[in-house]
Amino acid sequence: MSLIKLDIAKSGVNITEAMLAEAKAANTLLHTGEGAGNDFLGWVNLPSSIDAEQIAAIEAQAAKLREKAEVVICIGIGGSYLGAKAVIEAMSNSFEFLKKQHENPTVVFAGQNISEDYTRELLEATKDYSVAAIVISKSGTTTEPAIAFRLIKAELEQRYGKAEAAERIVAITDKARGALKTLATNEGYPTFVIPDDVGGRFSVLTPVGLLPLAVAGVDIKALVAGAQAMEKECGADVAIEQNLAAQYAIVRNEFYKAGKKIEILGSYEPKLLYVAEWWKQLYGESEGKDGLGIFPASVTLTADLHSMGQYIQEGERTLFETIISVANAKYDVKVESDEANLDGLNFLTGKRLSEINKMAELGVQLAHLDGGVPQMRIEIPAINEAALGELIYFFEKACGISGYILGVNPFNQPGVEAYKKNMFALLDKPGYEEESKAIKARL
Ligand code: PA5
Repeated sequence: MSLIKLDIAKSGVNITEAMLAEAKAANTLLHTGEGAGNDFLGWVNLPSSIDAEQIAAIEAQAAKLREKAEVVICIGIGGSYLGAKAVIEAMSNSFEFLKKQHENPTVVFAGQNISEDYTRELLEATKDYSVAAIVISKSGTTTEPAIAFRLIKAELEQRYGKAEAAERIVAITDKARGALKTLATNEGYPTFVIPDDVGGRFSVLTPVGLLPLAVAGVDIKALVAGAQAMEKECGADVAIEQNLAAQYAIVRNEFYKAGKKIEILGSYEPKLLYVAEWWKQLYGESEGKDGLGIFPASVTLTADLHSMGQYIQEGERTLFETIISVANAKYDVKVESDEANLDGLNFLTGKRLSEINKMAELGVQLAHLDGGVPQMRIEIPAINEAALGELIYFFEKACGISGYILGVNPFNQPGVEAYKKNMFALLDKPGYEEESKAIKARL
């Protein structure tokens, strides 16, 4: 039995035999490798292929970085960034930055933007701390992380000398291809490989996610065990009506066919904000192509009820919601009685905040249903590694199934190239002379 529960009772979708057959066919394609994009299916059996030796190697490298550095700068973008960011945010104390003492090195991120101010502030803020870096790029040629790495490498070499800097930099990239691989070999950086058949947005359970997570003190064994459990639950040999990922994929495709073009992933736990960011990349890049695809959006509640709530309740009726609901809070905080009761809240005396939060969740669910926004609910028992591991694999498997039901290749991202071509042309990259002239004329 998985830790995750999927509730589709309020979706209004009755899953038929035909829908199940379609999802079964899609799931089978993921396992037989006969579908589109089949050279990127390494993630399907990835959790169960991770052995103790791989975990030990990652933990050993993490221990070295933890020993050397108070701050580890993790450089990457897209799938080379969001998975680690999501799990670290979910597992960390929200106010860790205010603590005087830190149990774990602070993992900060770079190379996910080209902001001069962000980069300068990061270099400035880390000056008084011992620093190490993990540079992650599957292709090894992505511009944003390459620029950040150039600056951070120079900073580390200036501070520690070339030899010690090489002990403080770990590269995670392709086994043979790309500029980062060449650089790592030349400089003698410890290196971890991103398997050829695992695309960026499906790579959180490779060293791409696991090394930064181990550095941050996340129990990666428990995370992987969670993913392994979900891999079994969604396996090819499991009856499709029991397969939670298939159910989610079916329902969201039915919504889409009914004109619900936008899926809002919501949660009442702000720590899950970056889980939604990771999910948006996973679904947006996998399904948004060929003029098709649900637009993935997200909200953090109840905060966004005071900004997006009006639209969700009464705006254009093209929305559906998927709520990640956390059954148990970690701490126990109750509302206290107040003698004056000027705010009129004494009726809540003795109630836990999580109880009030839950009532908000249930109230919103019914209000949105009444407003024409159908829902699915994914319940996790608590925010911990095992549940997050399950959630990651659940969403990955559902994404593969959903993309095949939709009829797209969920494992490519041809559209990501368009902006790069224009940017290089505008920056006069050698080889882009013709494009440069043409684009400048357009501007
Ligand atoms: O899912 C994908 O493949 C992409 O979004 C990549 O993760 C992203 O572009 C970063 O690529 P790379 O790891 O090659 O630098």
